[in-house]
Amino acid sequence: MNLHTWLGEQAAQRERDGLVRSLTTHTGDHDVIDLAGNDYLGLCRDPRVTAAAADAAVRWGAGASASRLVTGTLPVHTALESTLAARLGHEAALVHSTGYHANLSAVTALSDRDTLLVSDAHVHASLVDACRLSRGTLAVVAHNDLAQVEARLAERTQARALVLVESIYSVLGDAAPLTELVGLCERYDATLVVDEAHGVGVAGDGGGLVRELGLGGRPSVIVTMTLSKALGSQGGAVLGSQAVIDHLVNRSRSFIYDTGLAPAAAAAALEALRVMDVEPERVARLHHVAATLADAAGVQRVAGAVLSVEMPGPVEALAAQAECGASGVRVGCFRPPSTPDGISRLRLTASAGVSEDELTLAGKLIGTVVA
Ligand SMILES: Cc1ncc(COP(=O)(O)O)c(C=O)c1O
Repeated sequence: MNLHTWLGEQAAQRERDGLVRSLTTHTGDHDVIDLAGNDYLGLCRDPRVTAAAADAAVRWGAGASASRLVTGTLPVHTALESTLAARLGHEAALVHSTGYHANLSAVTALSDRDTLLVSDAHVHASLVDACRLSRGTLAVVAHNDLAQVEARLAERTQARALVLVESIYSVLGDAAPLTELVGLCERYDATLVVDEAHGVGVAGDGGGLVRELGLGGRPSVIVTMTLSKALGSQGGAVLGSQAVIDHLVNRSRSFIYDTGLAPAAAAAALEALRVMDVEPERVARLHHVAATLADAAGVQRVAGAVLSVEMPGPVEALAAQAECGASGVRVGCFRPPSTPDGISRLRLTASAGVSEDELTLAGKLIGTVVA
């Protein structure tokens, strides 16, 4: 079978399953109430953040022009790294061009054939792909199942182990039992890799769930994150000890063989961190929006900004998303194969940028759509 015959068969199958994905161009329309994006603190369009991006582009160029190890390390990268490390409570940080790259970097460079990778079943696709690229042995455990994590660690034959989780899960919106996981990792001489994509800017005072729980800076904990959600920019980072970061600089292929983060993105993230600190009310507002939406949708309140609303199936989920869209409220929709448990969901995300009037309107609509 040639490629195009196979592509035709694949497309027909997706059509039969109701799983066709397509790209929609968004016009940057301010009339839409956005409960689908990840701009949790409403900083993506903040004039201070966009001005910092513009200034950095003028000063340093539209791109970093080379790998960080060649000529692509600029003062804005090192400033962002030291600020992130201090703010999130780690010894050091390394900025990557995306959060996806940060996850590939941490998992592949910190594992070898003598490493067991214990991964929660609900981790992000970038961690799944990182496991596929790693030479270690993979054990997938049920979501947030501490007993299964312990069993895998206790029976391991490999010299080292990494346990892979998200602090706040991107689809389910629930939190990982991080304190217990760190306890297990320390008992079994393993390292916990926590993806804080949905925790930074959201949990605690914005410093993330790891910091909030007092777990930052422990040798057994490594954090990965994206700059593209609460910080409103683009890019990613790995945080941990200086030894971990030095190792990544020397061994991580997704860091070494990749052009450095664009200066505009680095400067925007740095400014977003500053704004987050001088306007702590943004984090509080985000949690008020999340709680109001949870009550409207009839689901439990959550630690983060992501609300997961189960729907009977993919067709119903798509119809509900379309109904919200027609009334000017953009919501996310997750269907298999993006959901590891096969359940279709509406995904609502809270943002500090949603006004009280918008929240009232969106709450009423969501109550009707999911009823
Ligand atoms: C949990 C999680 N990890 C990693 C990523 C990847 O981050 P980025 O978009 O910066 O590549 C995402 C983004 O979708 C995510 O939700």
